[in-house]
Amino acid sequence: MKPRTISDNISWLGFIDRDRRLFDSLIPLPDGTSYNAYLVKGSEKTALIDSVDPAHADTLMEQLEGIGKIDFIVSQHAEQDHSGAIPKVLEKYPDAIVFTTPKGKDLLIDHLHLPEDKIRTVQNNENLSLGDKTLQFIYTPWVHWPETMCTYVPENRILFTCDFFGSHIASTDLFVRDKSKVAEAAKRYYAEIMMPFRSAIKKNIAAIEQLDIDLIAPSHGSLYDEPRFIIDEYKTWIADTPGNLVVIPYISMHGSTRVMVEHLVASLAEHGVTAQQFDLAVTDLGKLAISLVDAATIIIGTPTVHVAPHPAIFYASFLANALRPKAKFASVIGSYGWSTKAVEKIAEQISNLRVEILTPIVCKGFPGNNILDALDEMAQRIAEKHKELGILQ
Ligand code: FEO
Repeated sequence: MKPRTISDNISWLGFIDRDRRLFDSLIPLPDGTSYNAYLVKGSEKTALIDSVDPAHADTLMEQLEGIGKIDFIVSQHAEQDHSGAIPKVLEKYPDAIVFTTPKGKDLLIDHLHLPEDKIRTVQNNENLSLGDKTLQFIYTPWVHWPETMCTYVPENRILFTCDFFGSHIASTDLFVRDKSKVAEAAKRYYAEIMMPFRSAIKKNIAAIEQLDIDLIAPSHGSLYDEPRFIIDEYKTWIADTPGNLVVIPYISMHGSTRVMVEHLVASLAEHGVTAQQFDLAVTDLGKLAISLVDAATIIIGTPTVHVAPHPAIFYASFLANALRPKAKFASVIGSYGWSTKAVEKIAEQISNLRVEILTPIVCKGFPGNNILDALDEMAQRIAEKHKELGILQ
């Protein structure tokens, strides 16, 4: 794809990656992704903001043919999907200087072995003049690495944000047109890499809300010509109060744990509590992560394998623990064959979660009426807890 104009003397460059299905060898990308770079041409100097994944550096280099000289390269984030093609850009423009934060400098040297003398560090709110355009650097740490920053061009009222506000969608829509699709993709990305840094994101949003912004240009996905849309979505996701939602990741080996999960889900529905169950044998972990953004309660449903939880539950609990969702309550339900330490093992696994533990329910073999009654009581208890939080009337 050729460069595309997004504003006066500012162009999109990059690669739309329809084939990529997994990020960081972990995160499912059902809709592919894009790596966006931007060319900002001032009357005196030209800057490239971010680059592309190194696997697609040749595409970027072809797009740069015939654009003239690049004086400055802005590295907003050192992770390789944005910085990885910078060495090739520097080969072509050996006089160019890379601008980044002090932490970004260390990371670029570590990850790309860039020569130290090619890098200049910037302070928060520092300006770099391109002549009739200005690059203003705004520190926005922990979205999702410590060095991340945004770049504001006041003359065009554009904010370049790298991963912040990004969405993994391979789309030729330069600007967001299908808001519901983008909202889900952006939420998936937020859930998977940014959710643990909610308090930093709050501060970052407060900083960028001081700016007059007509366009937010992230380095993944389409651009936001209605910036309020994605800022407001983020504000909902980072809010302290969760939704009236119980998320139940589970596995069932012979059907007993599944019966327990489905009984609990039905009982919660009778109490007006929304429940989402995820069979980890088949689910897309990104969907589970999206639900964890809003969950007030997490119930883990596990059978027992050699007295411990099923390995898929270990994996999901490790992930939930790392993502630090804002859930307030948690518990474990499940069936076992002859003995179990599943509850104790899961408790060790989720120590990061600041949750009140509701009494677990485990049963030997197929659940009888006493277990189903206990699940009804758990549903009632959850509803009461949600009422106390003010999220259920
Ligand atoms: Fe899109 Fe943190 O890389």
